[in-house]
Amino acid sequence: MKANDGRPTRKIREHHQAILHQLAQMKDTIGHLERGELKSIEDGLKQSSKFLDNELRPHAEWEEDSLYPPIGELLKKYGKPTATMEIDHDDIKTRIDQFRNDVAAFLSLSHAPKGREELGRQLIRNAWQLEAIVSLHLRKEEEVYLSLADSHLTEKDIQAILGGEH
Ligand SMILES: [Fe+2]
Ligand SMILES: [Fe+2]
Repeated sequence: MKANDGRPTRKIREHHQAILHQLAQMKDTIGHLERGELKSIEDGLKQSSKFLDNELRPHAEWEEDSLYPPIGELLKKYGKPTATMEIDHDDIKTRIDQFRNDVAAFLSLSHAPKGREELGRQLIRNAWQLEAIVSLHLRKEEEVYLSLADSHLTEKDIQAILGGEH
């Protein structure tokens, strides 16, 4: 669904689209930096830093103060609390597929160093993103899920969950 449809949350979704757009611009700026194209990127760097401080951080704080409390109530009543973590898994699995395919393509281009350049950059980007997403995901599991399990489940419960898997 589009961000600007008739849903009551459209303003928030539109703001998310604007944030993604600005993040893409920030990525462009950083791309110039990576390639050593240093001319006139000062403005881009300043803008990126301003955007993070003046827009992204307040957005997160507004969500914690104003959006999450009512959503928390809805989640208890109607939601699936683990759905967000499953979205993380979905993204991680897509990146695993991408990485495997890029590695295969990279290896098949052993005699074409030019062709390897772009793939190499893609592999680096994906590895960095995977590291960021997986480390955040594990932090969420440990700080929220596993600490709940430690407080409310017994060793025996955990053994049953682990089953033959571990
Ligand atoms: Fe948000
Ligand atoms: Fe997980």
